[in-house]
Amino acid sequence: MSNGDGKIKLGVLGSGSGSNMQAILDAIQDGSLDAEIVLVLSDNPDAYILERAQKAGIPAEVIDCGGYKTRFPDESQAAVAEKLKAAGVEIVCLAGFMRLVKQPMLDVFPNRILNIHPSLLPAYPGLMAWKQAVDDGARESGCTVHYVDAGMDTGPIILQARVPVIPNDTADTLHARIQEQEHTLYPEAVRKVAASLES
Ligand code: GRF
Repeated sequence: MSNGDGKIKLGVLGSGSGSNMQAILDAIQDGSLDAEIVLVLSDNPDAYILERAQKAGIPAEVIDCGGYKTRFPDESQAAVAEKLKAAGVEIVCLAGFMRLVKQPMLDVFPNRILNIHPSLLPAYPGLMAWKQAVDDGARESGCTVHYVDAGMDTGPIILQARVPVIPNDTADTLHARIQEQEHTLYPEAVRKVAASLES
C-alpha cells in the first residue's frame, strides 16, 4: 500500500518537541525508511513539532479541540481523521500526542495508528512513565511502539527497546536515555508496519 509512488504516507500527531517526528524524518532523509510525512498536526499551537514540520516543508496544522484542555472531542477526532484521509495518510504516528485517541479515529484507521511510549509496556502506562520507573526503584525501563486501541497504552506491541536504570538516575537522565532509544525504535517500527501492509 503506497499510493503508487512506493512511499508509504505518514501523518504525525504530536503535542511537544517532536524529536520522534524528527527521527522519522531523518530516517526518511537518509534513505533507511521508504516513507513520506505528508501532514503534521498538533493540539498545541506553540509545540515545536509544528516548527520542525514547517522547516522541513511539511504541511502542519493546529487541531481545534474546542477549548478542552485534555479531552479530544469526537468532532475534533472526526475532523482530524478527515484531514489525514484527504492527505492520503496510510499510517498515523502519535509522537508525544497528549490526548487519548479513540473512535472515530480508530474506525477510520483500524490497526493503522501507532504510538510510542517511554516504558516497557505493560509496565508504567500513563503520564511520565520514566518518573514512574525511577520512583518505583525499577532496574530497567525502556520504550515501546504499539498499535493504538481503545485503552490507554494498551494496544498490541510492535517493538520494544530496553534501557537500564543506572545508579543516581533521575527522572530526567533516564528520560533522555530512553529518548535516544526511541529515535531508533520508532523509524524501525514504522518500517515493520509498512512492510506488513505491503505484503
Ligand atoms: C516521548 O518520550 C514519547 O515516548 C512520549 O512523549 C515523548 C515525546 O517526545 N509519548 P517528542 O515530542 O517526540 O520529543
